[in-house]
Amino acid sequence: MKKVIIAPSILSANFTALQHDIKIIEDAGAEWIHIDIMDGHFVPNITIGPVVVKSLRKATKLFFDVHLMITNPEKYWREFQKAGADIITFHSEVLTDKKKLIEDIKSTDIKVGISIKPATQVSEIKDLLSYLDLVLIMTVEPGFGGQCFMEDMVPKIKDLRKIIDKNKYKCLIEIDGGINSKTSSICIKAGADALVSGSYIFSAENPKDAIESLFI
Ligand code: DX5
Ligand code: ZN
Repeated sequence: MKKVIIAPSILSANFTALQHDIKIIEDAGAEWIHIDIMDGHFVPNITIGPVVVKSLRKATKLFFDVHLMITNPEKYWREFQKAGADIITFHSEVLTDKKKLIEDIKSTDIKVGISIKPATQVSEIKDLLSYLDLVLIMTVEPGFGGQCFMEDMVPKIKDLRKIIDKNKYKCLIEIDGGINSKTSSICIKAGADALVSGSYIFSAENPKDAIESLFI
């Protein structure tokens, strides 16, 4: 099976000891860290803002995979870019002119992704694939960690894989929500390049073993 990127989500980390938890996933061999930004509007939950991301930037060299679950990414993305994001992924559902935001983000030296909620089809973003570095397919309703993987999203992963391969796009497919050792292999077989995993890794007795179990 091919090597996928594992992006542990700090949403399930211990927020009183983020530096400690980041060290654990670094030592476990993770190269990315998934940072969930929620505004209490696009999703019914609020998390962290650019101030925290900026502080975390001083604590690690991990690739910052910033997932904006916010209604106005065009208003706030730059704050996250300045704070040290390596990729900014915004939601397809919140904007009509997605191309403009893609171009703005790409005009800096960071990467750009688009995320789709479970009810959003791949066809909504198909025309943008050649400009994107990543598509984040949600396999839970965005807002909270610890939910169950929606198996009916698997055909979406397969469809997207086919389109990307057929057109030789360089865009990665990342999957977010309910990833554990069982659902990871379903996603990898369906064509995922990167997997976000929060509660499974951070609630494990041994996060290193948990991360390793996602590759198989
Ligand atoms: C949910 C977030 C996820 C979340 C995943 O809205 O986007 O990144 O942290 O958590 P688990 O792995 O617990 O489903
Ligand atoms: Zn996320």
